[in-house]
This record gives sequence, C-alpha cells and structure tokens, in this order.
Amino acid sequence: MTVISEIKQRIDIVELVSDYVPLQKAGRNLKGLCPFHSEKHPSFFVFPEQQTWHCFGACGTGGDVFSFVMKKDGIDFSEALSLLAQRAGITLGPPTMPSKPEDGEREELFQINEAAAAYYHHLLLDTKAGEIARSYLSKRKVALETIKQARLGFAPDSWEATKKYLMGKGYKEGKLIEAGLVIAKEGGSYDRFRNRLLFPICDIQGRVIGFGARALDESLPKYINSPQTSVFDKGASLYGIDKAKDAIRRENSVIIVEGYTDVLMAHQHGWRNVVASMGTSMTEKQVAIAKKLTKNIVLALDADAAGQEATLRDAEVLISSLDKKTTPIPLWSGLVKYENVLDAEIKVIVLPKDKDPDEVICENPSAWRDLVRQATPLLDFAFRAVTNKLDTSKAKDKSLAMDRLMPLIYEIKEPVKQAHYVQKLAHLIKVDESVVVVALRKPKGRGKGAGPSLSQVSSQLLSDPVEEYCLALLVQYPELRQIAKELSGDHFESTDNRELLIRWQDSPGIPTLRDELDIGLLEHLEYLLSKAFPAPIREDEKTRRSAFIQCSLRLQERLLRKQEVRREQLLVLENEAGGVAAQLAKLEEQGIEASKELREIFIKQAQHWRNREA
Ligand code: UTP
Ligand code: MN
Repeated sequence: MTVISEIKQRIDIVELVSDYVPLQKAGRNLKGLCPFHSEKHPSFFVFPEQQTWHCFGACGTGGDVFSFVMKKDGIDFSEALSLLAQRAGITLGPPTMPSKPEDGEREELFQINEAAAAYYHHLLLDTKAGEIARSYLSKRKVALETIKQARLGFAPDSWEATKKYLMGKGYKEGKLIEAGLVIAKEGGSYDRFRNRLLFPICDIQGRVIGFGARALDESLPKYINSPQTSVFDKGASLYGIDKAKDAIRRENSVIIVEGYTDVLMAHQHGWRNVVASMGTSMTEKQVAIAKKLTKNIVLALDADAAGQEATLRDAEVLISSLDKKTTPIPLWSGLVKYENVLDAEIKVIVLPKDKDPDEVICENPSAWRDLVRQATPLLDFAFRAVTNKLDTSKAKDKSLAMDRLMPLIYEIKEPVKQAHYVQKLAHLIKVDESVVVVALRKPKGRGKGAGPSLSQVSSQLLSDPVEEYCLALLVQYPELRQIAKELSGDHFESTDNRELLIRWQDSPGIPTLRDELDIGLLEHLEYLLSKAFPAPIREDEKTRRSAFIQCSLRLQERLLRKQEVRREQLLVLENEAGGVAAQLAKLEEQGIEASKELREIFIKQAQHWRNREA
C-alpha cells in the first residue's frame, strides 16, 4: 500500500469535509452547500462508501480527499499530501522543495563543495603530499577504481591551503565558512580539514553536500564531519546513496551499514546497494530517503550489546517514521504492522563480534555474501531480542516473553505467517501451542486507531481499477505515449492517478520522472510499474494498444457522462427507501433515461449495501 492509499484509508472524507461544510444526511450519503460556488440549494454531495465528493451544481466536478483540500485551500498536490499526511499521522519523507529564493545561495554552496572535492581529489591522486593518503588507502586495500568513483581526497597538512585555493577561485571567505570548509576565529579563519583522508558526501542527485574526514593515524577524533549547513544535514543523508540508488532499485533492496569504509568496500566487491548511516543511529529522514527507492530494508549492525541496542533504536526510528499512529504501539508490533501495511520486508544482519562490514568483506567476501543471504527477518530478530535476556525455563520469564511477543503476533495479518510465529513462541517458552492460541483469541482492550468507520471501507473502494489499469499500461509501455494524447488529468478522479498522469505527460521518461517525484507519488508510480499484466498484453503490442484504447475511452466516456448527469438524477439517490427498482422507475417517470452507468452504480450500491447489512 502506498502512502497515498494509506492516507485515504485513514482519513474519512465525511470528517474532513465537515470541517469546512456543514453536511446533512441525504440517504446514505450527505449533502451540503457547495463550498466552491455560491448556491442556495445543496448540490454538493459526499459519498462515504466511495470516499468521494461531487458537486452536481455549477462546479460539476468531484474527487477524493486530496482534490477536496487542493481546491478548498488552493494548494497543490504535494502541499495537500503533507497536510493530509499530518492529519493522518503519517510522516512523509523530505518533500522535494519547490525552488525558494535562497536556492541561489544553496547553489553556491554546492559549487564550493564541488570545487573542494575536485581539489582534494587532485591532491590525493596527483601530488607528492598525497602520498601518505595513497599509501594508507592501499594498506586498507581500497582499489584505485574505488578511490576515483568515490572521489576520495586528501586535505593537506596546512591551516590555509584550502581556503586560499578556493578564494583564488573567486569564492568569498564568508561563503567558505558557510560551507563548513573553513572555521572562523577571532581576526581570521582556518581550514577545517587538515591532514586527513576526505570522503565527499553526496545527495541522491550526486551533488556534494559535505565531507567526512578520517585521520590517517590513530589520532582523535577519528572522523571530522562537515557541520550542519544549508545543504548538509548529516542525519538526513545516507553516505553512498548517489552511487547506490540504481542498484537499490534494481535489486529492490538496500543494506544500511554504519561507516564510510564499509560502503567503499561493499561497492568495491560488487555490493552496490549499500549505504551508510554515518555512525549515528539511523534517523527518520534517512529511512525516508531509502524508502523512496525500496521497501526492502536490511540493517547491518555489530554483534555486541551496543550493536543490538543500536538495532533496536534503528527499528524504533523505522516505526515512528513509517507508522505514526495516534496511540503508541509497542515497538515490535509496530514494525510488524508496518511490514503488513506497506508491504515492507525488514531484515537484520548481525555481524560477527568485533567486526564491521569492511573487515568482513575484505577478509572473506563469501562470508559477507552468506551474511546477506542469511539476513534475519525482523520478526525472528525481534523474537531473539526479546527473549535473549530471559530464562524461558522460569514461569515468570515465560509470561514475560508471552506479554512482549503476543502483541507482535497479534499484528501479523497473514494467517500462515501468524501460525508460524505462534508455533515459534510456543516452542520458545516450551508451552503447548494451544496456550498461545487461546491467548491470541482473547479480546484485548486495544486502541481504536483511525476509528471504526474507516475499517469498514474496503481499500478496494478507494482505488479505481480502470484508472490504475490505464496508467499502469502507460508507465510500463512507453510506446503508448503517442496514443495517449487525448487523456488529461480530468479523466482521473483519484488525485494520485491524476497527478501522476500530469507529471508523466510533462516528463521525458520514467527515470527522470522517478527523480522528480516526491515520496507519495513515487510509491504510487512503483506500484503501477509493478502491476503484472496478462501474457497477451505483455507479449503483443497490438493487444496492448487495443487494451489501452479501450480503457482510455472508458475514462473519457465516464467524464462525459458525469458532466451530463443532471442534478435531478442525483437527487433521486437521496431516496433510498425505494431501492433500485423504485429509483429507476422514478427516473423513467421523470422522463430521464438512466444511463447504463447509472444503472450500474445503483446496482453496485445496492450490492454493497446488502453486503454491509449481511
Ligand atoms: P567507525 O568507527 O566504525 O568507523 O564509525 P569506520 O567507518 O569503520 O572507519 P574505519 O574502518 O575505522 O576507518 C562508523 C561511522 O561513524 C561515523 C563515521 O561516519 C564512520 O564511518 N563516525 C565515527 C564519526 O562521524 N565520527 C567519529 O569520530 C567516528
Ligand atoms: Mn571500519
């Protein structure tokens, strides 16, 4: 499920609209005075079952929660996304910032960093002074190819070399200070990085945003990093992401390690989907960056107790960034919930004691391969983490394990998976499985979450199969672009589909589109790209064309009909009591021929109603 559909599930359109418009009941729907044009008689309807709205008056348009706030607040899609995400209690990744006035200033910092990276790189590779860093790297088995790809550098043992070089290039001292390359002191300034090996840190687009600088001997601190600047936020960056992003997408997984050198070695040995959190416990923003690319997240951390704790903390960050619910949920059950809801797979690699990935890979690449292969699914890891300090032969510890793991098992949606962990727990605490099963069935005083009304709305109702089918064809088969000119955003009722179509039309192709989209839409795009079509569509261009034309026509027809539906027709919908037949009869009586579509809607609604009553 994408962030967008999660938002749609969590926000009830009736609640949302009621914040702006007083609504009154109209059968099973609601109506009110249209907030978008002035009127005396209500022609604005909200359909709770479809989670949509429509103005049958002057506006003649409708949509979902997104288009409602966009229209009402006069904001664009990404603003609506963050507004509604906030309302739904979902944290989004950093939005792609619209260009701001200070962009010019940030641009200069990028340029300065770029010039510094080139300077340091040149010193490392081509100068006598750089010899000390070159030999350090060769001692650490870093290949020349790796040095070049990562653009490693050497900062000379000097207080002003970098400053002078960059000022010679025309950059002002103040800007160098702002970029974090130079430190201000009374009456002057001096270079931050001296006699160190430099790791340029880039954003996902490959722009240099900061540096990590390692001492070439045992002196402390081991690393000095760029300070926070307007382009660098260590906790919101992943080292290596620019080099790893293609591999992450291709392999549909990301391995998150701690250190710069771990990334270098992993890349050098062919594991290109590896990035580093740069020592600190993983942050929410870092997760958001990774999540843009894949939902398969592998955490690689050390074996010792600190490592386990770090893992726990990281896991906590994952939850809070991905599943912010109003009620606090226990750590692990939250993660399981996240795996369910977003279809994510979180795994944990536990490294051999006192070794980091760099050492493992260097000493024995196949040992690393095995570790990656044996990455432990989060649930198993959680089991281990929860029980490893317990003595499960003691009654007290048995119930403790039960108390902690039960909420977790409770969250597992797949019955087979759940059964598996029921067995596992029973085995672990050496009780009969039935004990666990009974405990599982006991009703719990659990939080209501988003509220009961929403749980009744099936997620199917929130998505539109024709729209999605049509869009999925378009994004998967570029040749259809030529015959897609007739389609416009108006043909799509679901705002995510609508926005995606518009953005797709404006972009030359999927790779560019991927880079341009922010998290919500990107997820939706990936979802559409992963939709599997039947063989005839996959294999035969003609069939594909005809399938596309059919669904595109369907969307066009739907829009036309919508525009035609007269207000009188709609008012009939208010009269629930009579049922479908009566509604149709009434229409006929009024001399209005119900369109096939409208009939379908009546029938569908009646079916839905019956299902709900059953
Ligand atoms: P490590 O101490 O594991 O360093 O810290 P490392 O990357 O393995 O380096 P080598 O192999 O000893 O050369 C992991 C990461 O924590 C951050 C850095 O990003 C480092 O890569 N760190 C560590 C700092 O920022 N400052 C420090 O003083 C130490
Ligand atoms: Mn190391």
